[in-house]
Amino acid sequence: MRGRFLHALVLSAVGMLTAACGGGNGASAGAAGGPIVVKFTHVAADFTPKGQAARKFAELLQARSGGRIEVRVYPSGQLFGDKDEVEALQANNVQFIAPSIGKLISFDPRFQIGDMPFLFADNAAENRFWRSATGRELLRSLEPKGILGLSTWPNGMRQLMNSRRPVRTPADARGLKIRIPSGGVLVDTLQAFGAGASVIPFTDTYTALQQGVVDGTMATFDNIENEKYAEVLRYLSVTNMNSLSYGVLTNTTFWDGLAPDLRQVVTDAMTEATALAEKLSRELDERSMAALKARIAVTELTPAERQQFVDASRPVWATYEPIVGDDLFAAAQAANQPGPVD
Ligand code: SIN
Repeated sequence: MRGRFLHALVLSAVGMLTAACGGGNGASAGAAGGPIVVKFTHVAADFTPKGQAARKFAELLQARSGGRIEVRVYPSGQLFGDKDEVEALQANNVQFIAPSIGKLISFDPRFQIGDMPFLFADNAAENRFWRSATGRELLRSLEPKGILGLSTWPNGMRQLMNSRRPVRTPADARGLKIRIPSGGVLVDTLQAFGAGASVIPFTDTYTALQQGVVDGTMATFDNIENEKYAEVLRYLSVTNMNSLSYGVLTNTTFWDGLAPDLRQVVTDAMTEATALAEKLSRELDERSMAALKARIAVTELTPAERQQFVDASRPVWATYEPIVGDDLFAAAQAANQPGPVD
């Protein structure tokens, strides 16, 4: 009895301390008056646009909150990999994650819009989509799952790499087994080229390629360079098949427990970090492509060759239109036109 009373007292004291720090939200508070310590985990390398934007976000949050929030950033899957980072966020064991959008399809199949082949012309178009009313509504669909979408960050267009042969047309891709980050649309797209697909966590991909578990992967220039895929693969085809974007997500309980002024600090820091991610994704994409040309056979497709990939994959749109919805396809196509979003 006495033990239970003491336990309740300790729990209530911890609760008071956390609440005093603006918490009640699963983030750990330091000593009385110490900062709320929160974690940002992601699977990309520290030098990528996502890595640098996450660090910028952490610095801004610490400075602008007057030291009331401290964000510890864990890149390269040091804390959680693809499989568990979303669950860790839902459990409030981490407070910020930034998975590629397609990794959210188990919550809502409409997130497959991001993986659709040859739909978004470039990263800028996908950015406009996520800033539109349709994109914002889709991010909000995560809230009943305890997840709040704060922003999206781009990281280039996905290219096709493999260890076997130069790929110029879908016929060249036939029989190749390709690592993909998430299923659904990407499986069907590769099947449309006669290729196979295997979902492998990002942090296991280098080893899977090295050991020949798969023949190749789809990845952006920036990830290809940072993950050193050119050490284990020989051919890179510039397909620009789809745009890679990350959903920058937080936990709703953590968010609701933040004092209103701190929420504003988080929002403003996220706006600046997003601008940095957008700038770096443009700059580093070009820099990585130039660097890769010195290390690997890069195949630039002619418009007619690329069109063969577009034509072969177009039935995938028809398959997914009933799942994803015509409204999302229409909003994505509208986002291909530069200009203000609704
Ligand atoms: C990432 O850049 O975070 C991972 C992308 C992937 O899994 O392909």
